[in-house]
Amino acid sequence: MSILKGKHVLLGVTGSIAAFKAADLASKLTQAATNVDVILTGAGEKFVTPLTFQSVTGRRAFTDKDLWGNEAHVMHVNLGKMADLLVIAPCTADTMAKLAHGIADNLLTVTALAATCPILIAPAMDGGMYDHPATQENLKTLQTRGVLVAGPAAGHLASGLSGVGRMIEPMEVLGHIRAALGRNGKLKGRKVIVTAGGTQESIDPVRVITNHSSGRQGYALAQAAIDSGADVTLITAPTALTPPVGAKVVPVKSAQDMLDALLNETGDALVMAAAAADFRPKETAKDKIKKRDGIPQIHLEAAPDILKAVSSQSGVQKRFSVMVGFAAESRDLLQNASEKLKSKGLDFIAANDVSAKDAGFAVETNRLTLLFSDGTQESLPLMSKSEAAERIIEHIARLLE
Ligand code: CTP
Repeated sequence: MSILKGKHVLLGVTGSIAAFKAADLASKLTQAATNVDVILTGAGEKFVTPLTFQSVTGRRAFTDKDLWGNEAHVMHVNLGKMADLLVIAPCTADTMAKLAHGIADNLLTVTALAATCPILIAPAMDGGMYDHPATQENLKTLQTRGVLVAGPAAGHLASGLSGVGRMIEPMEVLGHIRAALGRNGKLKGRKVIVTAGGTQESIDPVRVITNHSSGRQGYALAQAAIDSGADVTLITAPTALTPPVGAKVVPVKSAQDMLDALLNETGDALVMAAAAADFRPKETAKDKIKKRDGIPQIHLEAAPDILKAVSSQSGVQKRFSVMVGFAAESRDLLQNASEKLKSKGLDFIAANDVSAKDAGFAVETNRLTLLFSDGTQESLPLMSKSEAAERIIEHIARLLE
C-alpha cells in the first residue's frame, strides 16, 4: 500500500457511537506505515479515549486540553500544515455544521479552519438528522467548497431505526483516503480500463465452464491505477472481491460480455488481466440438463479473443494508447509470452508462470517478467500482487508520458 506509506493523515474523531470504528481506521492506517495524528473532540472523548488511539498509532492523541496549552497558538496551524489529508471520521451533524459555517470552537474545528490540505469527512448520525434540511444544506456547502464526502451508508442506526446515516466501514474509508491521496498522481486525468476475474461460459442455467482466476491481480491493478490518480473502469467477471473505492465497475459473465463491454470503452490504457475463456459451449441449454437423460456431450467452440478483437478494431485511431496483457503459462513461459505480445499487438505483456505455487492463480503473490514491444525485458522478483500492480502501473505512466 505504498500510496499510504509515509503519508501524514490527521484523523478527527467526533461524538458518535461510530467513534469505535475510528480506532480500527487508525490501526489500519498505522499498519500501512501512515503517520496518524488524532484529534478528539470533547464529545468524541466520551465514546473513546485518547489512550485508545495512542495505543494503536504509537503517537500522542490531541484533545481540547491542548487547545489551551502553551503551544496552542502554533499547534493547530502545525497539525494542519503537516497533514497530507484531514479525515474526520466519524463526522457528526454538529461538526459538519461548524465546518460549513467556519465555526472554530474546539481543537478539531480550529485545525480544520487553519488546514491547507484536502478534507475528507465520513458522516455519522441518525437518519432524521442526516435528512434534515440544515444538514443537507451544510453538506452541499462543504461539497461545493471541495470537501470530500465518504458515505454515509444505509442500515441499522444506534437509535434502533434504520435509514441513511451509518458511518461507512473503516476499510471503505481507507479506500476513500487512498483515492484522495492519489488524486494528483502520475495518471491524473488519464482513463485506465482494467479487466479482471475468470469469465463464466454457461452450459445451462446452473452450470458454467470457468477457471481458477481469483481476480486479485486485476483488482490490485485497478487499485494501483486509482492510487496514481487515474479514472478507472473495472470490467470484472464474477469474483469474491470488493472493488476498490473510486472504480467504475462493469460486471460481466462471459468472454463475449467482456468484449462487448470493452467495445463501449476508449481510454489511455487497457490492462487485460482477466482470465477470459478460450472455449465455450457451442450451445447453452435453455433448461437444466437432467441427470436422468445421461451424460451430456458438450461441444465447444472458440470464444472471442478479446485483445485481438480490440486491437484489430483500433484502426487508425487507437482505442487505447497503451495495451497491456498477461500471459498465463505452465511451460515455455517467455517464448509463449513473446509470441502473444506480438500477435495481440501489445505494448507489454506480464508473463506469469501459473504452475508455480507462490505465483499465479488464487495466491497473494506473483512473480512476473515484463516483456516490452521494443524487445526489452524486466524480471520482477516474487512480490505481492499489489506491488506487482504498482510496477505495471508505473510502466504505463512512463509509456503515456
Ligand atoms: N485474452 C483475451 N481473450 C481471450 C483469452 C485471453 O483477450 N479469450 C487475453 C488475456 O486477458 C491475456 C492475454 O490474452 O491478457 C493472454 O491470455 P492467455 O490465457 O495467456 O493466452 P491465450 O491468448 O488464451 O492463449 P493460450 O490459451 O493458447 O495460451
